[in-house]
Amino acid sequence: MTYLLGIDVGTTGVRAILVDETGHVAAGATVGHALHTPRPNWSEQDPEDWWQGTVEAVQAVLGKMGTGGQVIGIGLSGQMHSSVFLDGQDRVIRPALLWNDGRTSAQCRWITKQAGEAGLRRMVGNPALEGFTAPKVIWLRDEEPEHYRRLRTLLLPKDYIRFRLTGEKVTEVSDAAGTLLFDVRNREWSRPMLDKLGVSPELLPPVVESTDVCGRVTPAAARRTGLKAGTPVVGGGADNTCGAVGNGIVKEGRALASVGTSGVVFAQTNRVKIDPRMRVHTFCHSVPHRWYLMGVTLSAGNSFRWFRDALSPLEVQVERISGIDAYTLLTEEAQMAPAGSEGLIFLPYLTGERTPHRDAAARGVLFGLSPRHSRAHVVRAVMEGITYAMNDSLRIIQGLGVGVEEVRATGGGGRNAFWVQMQADVYGLPVVTVAATEGPAFGAALMAGVGAGVFADLVEASDQFVKVISATEPNPRHVARYRESYALFQSLYPDLKAAFARAQAMVEKQAKETES
Ligand code: XUL
Repeated sequence: MTYLLGIDVGTTGVRAILVDETGHVAAGATVGHALHTPRPNWSEQDPEDWWQGTVEAVQAVLGKMGTGGQVIGIGLSGQMHSSVFLDGQDRVIRPALLWNDGRTSAQCRWITKQAGEAGLRRMVGNPALEGFTAPKVIWLRDEEPEHYRRLRTLLLPKDYIRFRLTGEKVTEVSDAAGTLLFDVRNREWSRPMLDKLGVSPELLPPVVESTDVCGRVTPAAARRTGLKAGTPVVGGGADNTCGAVGNGIVKEGRALASVGTSGVVFAQTNRVKIDPRMRVHTFCHSVPHRWYLMGVTLSAGNSFRWFRDALSPLEVQVERISGIDAYTLLTEEAQMAPAGSEGLIFLPYLTGERTPHRDAAARGVLFGLSPRHSRAHVVRAVMEGITYAMNDSLRIIQGLGVGVEEVRATGGGGRNAFWVQMQADVYGLPVVTVAATEGPAFGAALMAGVGAGVFADLVEASDQFVKVISATEPNPRHVARYRESYALFQSLYPDLKAAFARAQAMVEKQAKETES
């Protein structure tokens, strides 16, 4: 039996899976890694932890493969935007600043001033946002000049793993697109943008398409992981394009709604389309010559996780003793409250918000609490608030003239029939789920399959391996109810914008006082 190996370097862990010749996930393993927040608004990880996690996860899946099995191709996926800084000896200079790190607001303002909003739209198709990579490079230059002087190579998380596996420093279009240094229209580094920022093109690796073979496992990496030296590694993709491919988003008309730590709404476009107001991102798809529009709500699953960790000790205990997932218990409780949670609205902006507000100072809000509200209402409001925030992105994408006929739900939001129905009702569209719940690692494995010659292209790979298992139609009664609640949800952020900024200034001042 031959296998395709997909590896996803996520925010909470590394996931490795083996996909067999029939599209079945034959083995999977996840190895968690730590996330460090040395200061409020900071979010960092050690790239060495990703590599350790990769070695262990790959060893684990190979251990399950059995003799006679052979990996014929490897695809890499990873969290987008996070910055790996390497020195002249290819050593990691400092921990990576992650996609959900909010420290670079001053650098974003500087970049926007240097390039201009119109210039950003023209050169890189996207605004300067805290999470993106370019502001992190400028932050290093501004705040840690001694580190910046040593900087010789800038890599993205999965590309660092590629470097450790193959010795090649290469990236591919879908991840390069998220750096803010990439001309998404022409699928190449943007010299004008690099010049504007004074960033040397020498820092950047060559760029390939996602399905191109661009390295082979070295003998040293083979010894560490158990893989065969020489196994081909394809470009792979950003976790979002890999997740999309793994869910069959390889054609226009389909959108993906993915609830992970962040919540992502992703829709393919056959031509490059840029939001004149840049509320949603335009990035390169892993399908060659295709693009996508994407909105990101920063704390989707993260809001639900907060509710579990901060407010549900009993469910966590039950999970520990009985193995019943705490989220399943909480979702059951949510169903005891009516649609719309009787006026209770949750804004899921725990770590600021990206789409549509672009505001690192925004914070979570529970609005409309009364003695009538039980905990069931609160859990339901949290799930609804996450879904409304994703709907913000979907509406913008539709407003740009992209027809969406169906939404495919994946991640936390696709695992549970109640949440799938809620999404169908809020989006007012059929919501489909597919058999492989693996998301990014599965998509990466399909890319490896194209590189290894198993499939002609990603459309063929998806047609053969991505199987639809459910389709849920919206419930008209709930659609009307949610339309009202969603309108209220949308009205809250503008009313609170100034208060969020004041609260952030206050918290930062108090943190400094505590430090000194
Ligand atoms: C996308 C983004 C997140 C990360 C999560 O722009 O920042 O979805 O890719 O891994």
